Amino acid sequence: MRTPNIAANWKMHKTVAEARTLVQAMVGDLQGLQEVECVLCPPFTALQAVAELVRGTGIAVGAQDMYWEEQGAFTGEISPLMVKELGQYVIIGHSERRQYFGETDETVNRKVHAALAHGLIPIVAVGENLAQNEAGETEAFVSGQVRRGLAGLSPEQARRIIVAYEPIWAIGTGRPATGTDANRIIGGVVRATLGEMFGRDVAEEIRIQYGGSVKPDNIAEFVSQPEIDGALVGGASLKAADFVAIVRTTAEVKGGSR
Ligand code: 13P
Repeated sequence: MRTPNIAANWKMHKTVAEARTLVQAMVGDLQGLQEVECVLCPPFTALQAVAELVRGTGIAVGAQDMYWEEQGAFTGEISPLMVKELGQYVIIGHSERRQYFGETDETVNRKVHAALAHGLIPIVAVGENLAQNEAGETEAFVSGQVRRGLAGLSPEQARRIIVAYEPIWAIGTGRPATGTDANRIIGGVVRATLGEMFGRDVAEEIRIQYGGSVKPDNIAEFVSQPEIDGALVGGASLKAADFVAIVRTTAEVKGGSR
């Protein structure tokens, strides 16, 4: 059985003071929901404050991106060593990084290798845009992103990653995929591709999240699907009550299905 994982991607929201307030409002409730792995991904500037507030609670911390080199003349970047000091996870290849900041499958691949080499768990994001979806290109595109982004990993490394399927047209639009469609892509494309790359047994162990307009009132539709192991949550993770409700529903739905 795969342990469900819900990750909060705060994107470019929350000063350090605001981040503290948000974490303080949710940490007590989240601590009572340990059957779901829970990861908070604040902006780099708030990583330390968040890490201090969740220490000893079982709640994990992640960065939203990182560079693959350990150190050097790379102005503006942060390294795996720096993330590792403060967190356990790192989101890699978010569609907003791909769209606005030149991230490619090749840079995603370098970052995934670097994260694993440093003991971090990468949450690798993939997903098609609206034009690709409407043209019937979703399967080929997403499968290609998985293949190129995860190229060269050993099966032992692949076991440790998380993949987030986030259709771009569903991000921040209030227009999520349906549970059945997300399950079909996650099982039939993402997990199937992982199976071809790393073997079926390994693919069965890899957690795959859905992301895109996940809210308290639709999370059950996703996590009740057999292939969907959790969610990567944007907007709704900025409200303590909403994020706690998403984690709580996941615990209820996944706990009930065991
Ligand atoms: P929303 O939940 O705001 O749609 O964002 C999803 C996302 O991009 C999480 O990484």
